[in-house]
Amino acid sequence: MTTKIPEDLVPPASGAQTRGKVVLAARTVAKAYRQGSRTVEVLGNLDLSVIAGERIAIIGASGSGKSTLLNLLGGLDDPSEGSILVNGADIAGMNESRRAQWRNRHLGFVYQFHHLLGEFSALENVAMPVLIGGSKMADARRIGRQLLERVGLGNRLHHKPGALSGGERQRVAIARSLATSPTCVLMDEPTGNLDPDTAETVLTLILDLNRELATSFVIVTHDHDVAAKMDRVLRLSHGALASVSIAKAGDMATSPLAQGP
Ligand SMILES: Nc1ncnc2c1ncn2[C@@H]1O[C@H](COP(=O)(O)OP(=O)(O)OP(=O)(O)O)[C@@H](O)[C@H]1O
Ligand SMILES: [Mg+2]
Repeated sequence: MTTKIPEDLVPPASGAQTRGKVVLAARTVAKAYRQGSRTVEVLGNLDLSVIAGERIAIIGASGSGKSTLLNLLGGLDDPSEGSILVNGADIAGMNESRRAQWRNRHLGFVYQFHHLLGEFSALENVAMPVLIGGSKMADARRIGRQLLERVGLGNRLHHKPGALSGGERQRVAIARSLATSPTCVLMDEPTGNLDPDTAETVLTLILDLNRELATSFVIVTHDHDVAAKMDRVLRLSHGALASVSIAKAGDMATSPLAQGP
C-alpha cells in the first residue's frame, strides 16, 4: 500500500490553497421521521464543519442517528430543518439533477450496505461516477482499474457484486467513492464487514488519500483503530454531536466506542 496515487486522481485544487476551507457543513440541522401518527426525532439543532483535509470519526450507539446524519450530509435525504453546505452551496435548495451533479463532483459515499449495481462488474461500478461526471469511457475504466488495484481487487475487475465476498463488495464501494477525486468522502462503517488485515489495508488507503490528495473523510465507525487515526472523534448522542477524546489502542474498556448511548 505504498504505491503513488496516479496523477489523474489528483484534483486540480488540491493542497495548501484549499486547506482551512470548510468543505462540508451542517447548520442547525434537525431531522424527524413521521411513523403513522408518531414523530421520531432523530437529530436536533446539530452543527458540524468539516475542513479541507480533515478526518472525522462519528461514533454512537446503534439507532443514535449516524446513518441519518451521513445521508443528510451526502444529500441523500433532506433535513427537517437547517441547511447542508457542500463547498459553500446549500444542497437542500437544489433541484434533483443539480444536486446529483454537485454530489458527483464534490462528494464520495460509502453506504452501510454498499449498494453496488448488481448487473454491472466491479470495474463498471467504480467507473460509473467518473463517466457520469463527463469523462471518456477509457479514462473512467483506467481510473476504475487503478483504484480497484489499490484496494487489492485487481484480480476481480470483471466480477459482478453477486460473485464477490462481503468484504470485497465493501472494497469496491470504497474504490467507487474515491473515483471522482471528491473533496470529501462520507463512509458508513467502511470496515464493518472486513477482517482485521483488510480493514488495516482500507485504513491505510484512507490515510494515504487524505495525505496525498487532501481529501476530507467523515467516517461512521465502531472500529477503534479507525477512530484513533482521525483528527477528531465526535459522538452522536440524543440528536447532537460532542467531541470525545479517544482512548489509545489497548485501552478499549475505557474507549468511548465501548460506551452506551
Ligand atoms: N425512514 C425512516 N423512518 C422512520 N424512522 C427511521 C427511518 N430511518 C431511520 N429511522 C430511525 O432513526 C433512528 C436512527 O437510525 P440510523 O439508521 O440513523 O441509526 P444508526 O446510528 O446509523 O444505527 P446503526 O449503528 O445501527 O447503523 C433509528 O431509531 C431508526 O429507527
Ligand atoms: Mg447506521
